[in-house]
Amino acid sequence: MADENNPNGSNGGSSGSSPGKNGKVGLVERVTTGVKDDIQALKTDIPAKAKEQIEGLKDPTKTQVYTSIFRHKHDDTPRNRALGVLSNVFLHLHPAKINRDAVRYSYTWGMGGITFYLFIILTYTGVLLMFYYHPSKVQAFRDVLYLEHDVPFGKILRNMHRWAAHLMVIAVWLHMFRVFLTGSYKKPREFNWNIGVLLLVFTLLLSFTGYLLPDDQLGFWAVTVGTNMARATPLLGHEGPFGSMLGMTPYNDVRFGLLGGSIVDANALLRSYIWHCIGIPIVASVLMIVHFWRVRKDGGISGPAPVMLEAEADKPRRGPKAAGE
Ligand code: HEM
Repeated sequence: MADENNPNGSNGGSSGSSPGKNGKVGLVERVTTGVKDDIQALKTDIPAKAKEQIEGLKDPTKTQVYTSIFRHKHDDTPRNRALGVLSNVFLHLHPAKINRDAVRYSYTWGMGGITFYLFIILTYTGVLLMFYYHPSKVQAFRDVLYLEHDVPFGKILRNMHRWAAHLMVIAVWLHMFRVFLTGSYKKPREFNWNIGVLLLVFTLLLSFTGYLLPDDQLGFWAVTVGTNMARATPLLGHEGPFGSMLGMTPYNDVRFGLLGGSIVDANALLRSYIWHCIGIPIVASVLMIVHFWRVRKDGGISGPAPVMLEAEADKPRRGPKAAGE
């Protein structure tokens, strides 16, 4: 490096301010140059940075807060669209890419999603109903009357819960019917079909346990009839095959366990309440998580059979080979 103070390039003494014999730059020289560079940078870089930051404030996507949350650009490219899904905690639950034909309503009927949506409504309205309901013989029916006639929006709240429950049962059957019609229970989705069967059972059990809760005549007799069937359970019911041989009586069989007694009374009401509000929803939620996870692991929603034009049939296929090809 040229020394401005010492054009001859000779060593100007022991200060070490100019290049030495071996051409090395002295300490003072380096500090001076560094300071000069810094001052120059302050003059040009800082105003430029300030300008950039002021401009950035005008565009919210350039602020530090925004870039700390969204860590990539949002240009509309396939890569960015995939990143947008993958780097978002909520969106990453969905696959980054899907088969367009598989998600058409004409294929899925949207019934799985509608069933889930109704379950969310039921959970939400159910929690609100819990604020007004006591599962005791004295209060249960009175609480229902209170909700119907006195609680602000109580009637609509109760009816939202009832209608969502009816609709969920209908939707889950239709969903199962669609899965059956499209043959989506076949390999590799057999396991998810079985999870679905459990979900169907738990949906029906949710309905059944909720039936008793108003403690009205309808619920009382429905549960009386329903639980009477449990008398005939093989081995575990006192009227069922081999029941009496195993020592089953009306006071120790499976029906007694369901009702917490030999008749539909206070214990049955409390048991229904706990199963309806805690036990079954937890099991159903876990099963739904497994069900949705499994849809993804099985390669996404099955989708209609690929359509190929006759003209394309002889052409070599593009893209990665399908599994098993
Ligand atoms: C609470 C009940 C249920 C919920 C919330 C639910 C939800 C879903 C959702 C959202 C999907 C994605 C595709 C679609 O929407 O059609 C799906 C797929 C599937 N469900 Fe369910 N489902 C339930 C019950 C059932 C039942 C009862 C069965 C069968 C017995 C079943 C079997 C399947 C199968 C095999 C798939 C994959 C279908 C495919 O890939 O085309 N599900 N479910």
